[in-house]
Amino acid sequence: MAKEAPPDAFGNSAREYELGRPRWPRELIERVVRELELAADATVLDLGAGTGKLTRDLVPRFVRVLAVEPDNAMREVLQEVVPEAEALAGNAAAIPAESESVDAVFTAEAFHWFASDETVAEIARVLRPRGGFAIFWNVEFGEPEPPMGDAVEAVLDEAFARGGAPGIGKVLSGAWRRPLEASAFGPVQEAETERVVVRERERWLANMLSVSSIASQSDEERLALATRLRELVPDGEYRWRIRTIAYWTRLGH
Ligand SMILES: C[S@@+](CC[C@H](N)C(=O)[O-])C[C@H]1O[C@@H](n2cnc3c(N)ncnc32)[C@H](O)[C@@H]1O
Repeated sequence: MAKEAPPDAFGNSAREYELGRPRWPRELIERVVRELELAADATVLDLGAGTGKLTRDLVPRFVRVLAVEPDNAMREVLQEVVPEAEALAGNAAAIPAESESVDAVFTAEAFHWFASDETVAEIARVLRPRGGFAIFWNVEFGEPEPPMGDAVEAVLDEAFARGGAPGIGKVLSGAWRRPLEASAFGPVQEAETERVVVRERERWLANMLSVSSIASQSDEERLALATRLRELVPDGEYRWRIRTIAYWTRLGH
């Protein structure tokens, strides 16, 4: 069985993560904010905030934004890029916030790493009555246009095989739903959107190097992979169609 990427996979590559990963689609964020009836005076918490890819879109909307991130390197970038947020060291099993102090917890591209009865109870603890929980994932990445070719596919397949299963399998398995079903949260609703993301080769490469199972490899392996991919992929702009899903639920049934 493929091993799983270790939890410190991201800190290795915080700068690449920031450079390569796309932002979150505004219409999905707005939909969730509306559905959870969050007003501008709300306090919200971004859990597993990383370099603040979602945090930066919460800050202009809410009076107080807490960004909880266990990894020091990721949090350092977040503090640089989104200084308006309160960046806090912590994790989903021990959220550094008072009980019933937050109107909504957001988590983007992260819940599959820590979904459990324990963390769902901890998320419920920090929420005010009827508080909201929102989960975002990019679930489908189309083929690049123009295509990069079979040799690139083969190099990436080999790198993923070496590094262990990427997180997307955990997302698509839906295993993250189980702890929510047995919890204080009501039914989970969802909405999705498709968009085209355009990146030049270096940003695409940064994205690939920031994928957990590659981020967790040694510097030598990652450098060799980057060198090989630069040889195979001509510089230029590439387009991807990305499907993004938001899920949301509220405390109480
Ligand atoms: C793929 S990144 C997502 C970062 C950011 N939310 C975004 O939208 O790009 C996953 C993040 O979850 C964090 N993480 C991993 N385990 C965690 C845990 N148990 N509690 C909170 N965050 C965790 C990682 O350190 C990493 O920054």
